[in-house]
Amino acid sequence: MCGIVGYIGYREAYPIVLQGLQRLEYRGYDSAGIALYDGSNLKVSKTKGKVEDLKNRLESEISTKGSIGIGHTRWATHGVPNDINSHPHVSNSGNLVIIHNGIIENYDPLRQELLNRGYTFSSDTDTEVLVNLIEDVKTKENVKLGKAVQIALNQTIGAYAIAVFDKTKPNEIVVARLGSPLAIGVGENEFFIASDATPFIEYTNNAIYLEDGEMAVVRNHKKLKIRKIKDDSLVDPYVQELQLNLEQIEKGGYDHFMIKEIYEQPDAITDTFRGRMKTKEGIIRMAGIDDNLDKFLNARRIIIVACGTSWHAGLVAEYIFEEFARIPVEVEYASEFRYRNPVIYEDDVVIAISQSGETADTMAAIKLAKAQGAFVFGVCNVVGSSISRETHAGAYTHAGPEIGVASTKAFTTQITVLTLIALKLAKHKGKLSASEFRTYLQELERIPGKVKKALESNEQAAIVAKEYKDATNALYLGRGYNFPVALEGALKLKEISYIHAEGYPAAEMKHGPIALIDEQMPVFVIATKKGHYEKVVSNVEEIKARSGKIIGIVTEGDVEVRKLADHVIEIPETLEPLTPLLSTIPLQLLSYHIAVMLEKNVDQPRNLAKSVTVE
Ligand code: AGP
Ligand code: GLU
Repeated sequence: MCGIVGYIGYREAYPIVLQGLQRLEYRGYDSAGIALYDGSNLKVSKTKGKVEDLKNRLESEISTKGSIGIGHTRWATHGVPNDINSHPHVSNSGNLVIIHNGIIENYDPLRQELLNRGYTFSSDTDTEVLVNLIEDVKTKENVKLGKAVQIALNQTIGAYAIAVFDKTKPNEIVVARLGSPLAIGVGENEFFIASDATPFIEYTNNAIYLEDGEMAVVRNHKKLKIRKIKDDSLVDPYVQELQLNLEQIEKGGYDHFMIKEIYEQPDAITDTFRGRMKTKEGIIRMAGIDDNLDKFLNARRIIIVACGTSWHAGLVAEYIFEEFARIPVEVEYASEFRYRNPVIYEDDVVIAISQSGETADTMAAIKLAKAQGAFVFGVCNVVGSSISRETHAGAYTHAGPEIGVASTKAFTTQITVLTLIALKLAKHKGKLSASEFRTYLQELERIPGKVKKALESNEQAAIVAKEYKDATNALYLGRGYNFPVALEGALKLKEISYIHAEGYPAAEMKHGPIALIDEQMPVFVIATKKGHYEKVVSNVEEIKARSGKIIGIVTEGDVEVRKLADHVIEIPETLEPLTPLLSTIPLQLLSYHIAVMLEKNVDQPRNLAKSVTVE
């Protein structure tokens, strides 16, 4: 999710922690805060907004003395971005202070239990529950902080990278990680803690990266001990000597944010269905849907409004909703919908899809739909964004910050959320049997692994990219669920390499576009084993007959298209409605490599913005 920084040693903690948060700004965030202990007072300052806002507020609010400190940049998952929900969070006693990246899924039952034991909460966050759970364990079991953290974490479900210290014992910081990164910088009688090495790289290039399920009690002047959270067994610390520079660390060792985010998709998809999909019990739990189920079940139709890549995700959703839930769906460009005086009924459900949650056209479409009495549901990636606050209800994609202008992990996590909704509605409407429903949940659980497998085609994608990087035009073809993926693949190529590209339903070729085919025209055809395979093969033959260059995105083991195409890139097989989650991967990689070979500005393409907040 976002960023954590900590320091314990002989230096003043504040300058190190503040600069560390500034170094982590690239990760995107909505608020920031710092806690310092100066030997007698625990001081906490936190604010919605930028690290600069925190600096100005903190330096006017508290003294910056102290050689133990922790800092946090938040990417909200529970509780909108505001001052009180910002981290660090302090326990009821005022002694423990925590920062946390990730999601505690079972925070609600834990919160109830703690409320019953007399604890109070000032924020809406899952993190404040965690620090009070640790306090509760520490008090009840009369154990040290490290043991209390271990016992408490074994009661949680979710993802975390945490740092917590006790002002009554300020010579140690306890850290732990599961699902969110945590690095420990090892200095001479000093330790640094951070989400990546950027905050401490100039102080030390010796780093220990905790593995999932590991924790450590970091004490200055002491040797670091790492333990497994589950069974307390000791782990030998592996100290790496980092050779990376600042910029390389920010991008996780990747050359660009876009490729980093392409490779984050397995984790982003996992985080998006985490806590929502209970395969064994055969249930999908989504508060925004559960609380408004009647609206969806009695909907006359679903209207999807979005722009760009989010609009393509909406097209995939149209196919899925209609096939699974048998609810009529219309997908509208928000920029058109808002001006064409559309017919909107009070029993319409409008789904607005937006990664940034700030797109002006989508916001205008939402306001129009609300004014006509429709129920509006948002699918956003930024918690507390304008669209997420404007809609009646919603579901977040937990993709984490998407920095590259070209949307990648937002697309696949949007499809994941929309698939969960469609499956849930289909089950409630009796359109899917319990076993069919479970089959889809089981396959969804395999998708992150299959995306990882699809990413192995990266080298092949680079070979194909080299071949076609100088093309002036390109066509992308797909049928059924893969038609929106063809559109998305064309958009990716256009927006980062500036090569003109168009996506079409494969069968549409004969109605005009086939006139464009010649040996100069690369045609990217999504020809997976599902989705009218035989018909797509005939489309490929038609292109071949006209000397078109064919790049097939095929199911692993494909033989037929391989015979016809100039290149094939394989992806794993999956259930047809889930194919877009895999077929989009090679197209993302292809556009990335072409743009890099053409030396374009991949992360900030010309004329584009990450969030189009103007008309
Ligand atoms: C996609 O790669 C582009 N960045 C753009 O089309 C984007 O999807 C569109 O502007 C919508 O943005 P949103 O999802 O933040 O609303
Ligand atoms: N789930 C926590 C919150 O919403 C942490 C989010 C983060 O990773 O920044 O406050």
